[in-house]
Amino acid sequence: MATPTDDHQENHMQILRQMPKVELHAHLNGSIRETTLFDLARERNIQLSSHHFSNDLLPGVDHSMYNVRPRSLQDCFAMFAEISTVVDDLPSIRRVAQEMLEDFAAEGCVYLEIRSTPKALLLLNGSSKLATKRDYCETVLQVMKEFQKLEQDRYNIDLSNGLKEFPRLPLVCRLIISVDRSNDVMNGWENIQLAIELKKEYPDMVVGVDLGGNPLKREFSDFRACFEAARQGGLFVTLHCAEVPCSDEEKESSAYQDANAILDFVPDRLGHALLLPPILQKKLEDLRIPVEACPTSNVMTLELAERNSGGSLLEGLSRHPQLKRWLFETNHPLAISTDDPGVFHTTATKELVLLQKAYSLTNADLQKIVEQSMDYAFANQETKYFIKQRIKDRFQMINEKRV
Ligand code: IMP
Ligand code: ZN
Repeated sequence: MATPTDDHQENHMQILRQMPKVELHAHLNGSIRETTLFDLARERNIQLSSHHFSNDLLPGVDHSMYNVRPRSLQDCFAMFAEISTVVDDLPSIRRVAQEMLEDFAAEGCVYLEIRSTPKALLLLNGSSKLATKRDYCETVLQVMKEFQKLEQDRYNIDLSNGLKEFPRLPLVCRLIISVDRSNDVMNGWENIQLAIELKKEYPDMVVGVDLGGNPLKREFSDFRACFEAARQGGLFVTLHCAEVPCSDEEKESSAYQDANAILDFVPDRLGHALLLPPILQKKLEDLRIPVEACPTSNVMTLELAERNSGGSLLEGLSRHPQLKRWLFETNHPLAISTDDPGVFHTTATKELVLLQKAYSLTNADLQKIVEQSMDYAFANQETKYFIKQRIKDRFQMINEKRV
């Protein structure tokens, strides 16, 4: 039975759901719906590990604000390995991409950068024929282009019908191609070469490259030449950074060297940048590289919300190592993102709800964060300007209670 607190929470969610949002850090396979994961596993007769994937949550209880499942960094990488055994063919990645777009659109997202690591999947589950990494990217790009067109058509019809005075804004999306540092450097080069080629063929859609994967595997310096080539090829670069701890006293440690090398490269954006020690933190602040901050993901992977003491995400977020400082002391350029909504059971709306509650932000503060995120998007100037204007107009309507 819904309690007054649940109702209040849902009301708050509903209000924030209407706000336009910008999502700059969301991994495609990490956005898989749990229901889809279970469907695909059933179709393939694959038993998913009950440690990570279980249906045994209490019915009728709102779990969204609590850490109810194991999601340490190592848990997440074990999960990604399992997800990839299930999402094994082109139709399944098409479905995951389609649903990811639907889910972000439903949360009021107006601009979304999807990132994904190209994979040589099966053409069709059960067949022995392999598709190529290019097929993988083109399948995702096709879904994105079709979705974008349908969104714009839907919006135009809604406007002209006057059915709803202010229909939901259409979603615009772009693709970032990832390099997984768990794979070898040759594999990284393949992805970067593919990204450079696709950028020429789909200049409006393919906008950047990313380094992700298990931070304990390999060094950024192994991939530095790849990312230099990507830059030369006209691609924006974002790099996951400082997901494992280090200190200024351990300058020789691989975690310190890695974070330092990433900052020296001065990428266009950084993913997380969570655990920089003070000297590197200062370097980041001087460089003012925008950070894609993912509240739920950070709380989960850093294990800031202990499950055995209630697991409140809000309490966990109050212990976040950087966000308070970035928001209130250094005014660091930030984009609030979801990382892996399927893995962390989150949405673009929930991230804003958490942020607002944890740091007592006003709706005007959230508006500023959303608008500024668009400055750090990898879209061209024209698109950025256009979307930013759309966001401003919609906020104005919300503020005047016209929506
Ligand atoms: P995919 O690239 O579409 O397959 O999305 C899942 C992949 O994103 C994972 O296998 C990781 O390589 C990467 N990823 C997702 N979340 C994180 C993170 O928090 N840190 C580093 N890499 C991540
Ligand atoms: Zn990530």
